[in-house]
Amino acid sequence: MIMEISEIERLATEYEHSSPQDILKLALDTYGTSVAISFSGAEDVVLVDMAAKLSDNVRVFSLDTGRLHSKTYTFIENVREHYGIDIEIFFANRDKTENLVKEKGLFSFYRDGHQECCQARKVDPLRRALSQLDAWITGQRKDQSPNTRTHVPVIQDDPTFGSADHQLVKFNPIANWKSEQVWDYIRANDVPYNELHEQGFISIGCEPCTRPVLPNQHEREGRWWWEEATKKECGLHAGNVK
Ligand code: ADX
Ligand code: SF4
Repeated sequence: MIMEISEIERLATEYEHSSPQDILKLALDTYGTSVAISFSGAEDVVLVDMAAKLSDNVRVFSLDTGRLHSKTYTFIENVREHYGIDIEIFFANRDKTENLVKEKGLFSFYRDGHQECCQARKVDPLRRALSQLDAWITGQRKDQSPNTRTHVPVIQDDPTFGSADHQLVKFNPIANWKSEQVWDYIRANDVPYNELHEQGFISIGCEPCTRPVLPNQHEREGRWWWEEATKKECGLHAGNVK
């Protein structure tokens, strides 16, 4: 299905102040089973909760980098059972990961930066997941990363993974929500959450690349903390970095 760019921009303006549920409903009504939620196993679980209340046929996928926290695997499984949904799991690219590890070992990201490892373990499986879809739904929020996400629209023509041959529309229904609203929603709706949040983790990614933050540190400082703040996108949302 092709949507004119002008139409995507018009919808982005129309829905800029809409509730996440209305944006999700638009995504599900427009794309049906050609759209899926990209679920990281963190507080983006709110999208799964909202979507499960809107439709019985929600598609959800997670990218298993092979390096997620064990509590994240437990949580993904809990979510599958709690909502009675399938969660499609896409694994890291076998050849690229094996080659990287053979050449540079298991912790090359601390020396060489995270991009190469993220390409093999996250971006590659994301490409496979997206090849079956016309649209995807993410839990990106403006407040997650002042350096890279301030301008994330609620609906966009995917600047990174879409192409002239295969248009991909990206929905970011909670782009305008603050962390506080996400957590109010989790508590008010008894949404299951990743236990790591009880140990000081706010943002959660791979185990070797995420750490809890101290009081008043920004959540993004717990991700790839050895790197420059301006570059903290792993490739999934590379289009945010100009
Ligand atoms: S990241 O690019 O820095 O890793 P972040 O952790 O902030 O992303 O999450 C933002 C959104 O990206 C999530 O809400 C989710 O939609 C998507 N995402 C991130 N990691 C994964 C993952 N492992 N599997 C599926 N989706 C993911
Ligand atoms: Fe590799 Fe770290 Fe990226 Fe995970 S976040 S894919 S471990 S560099």
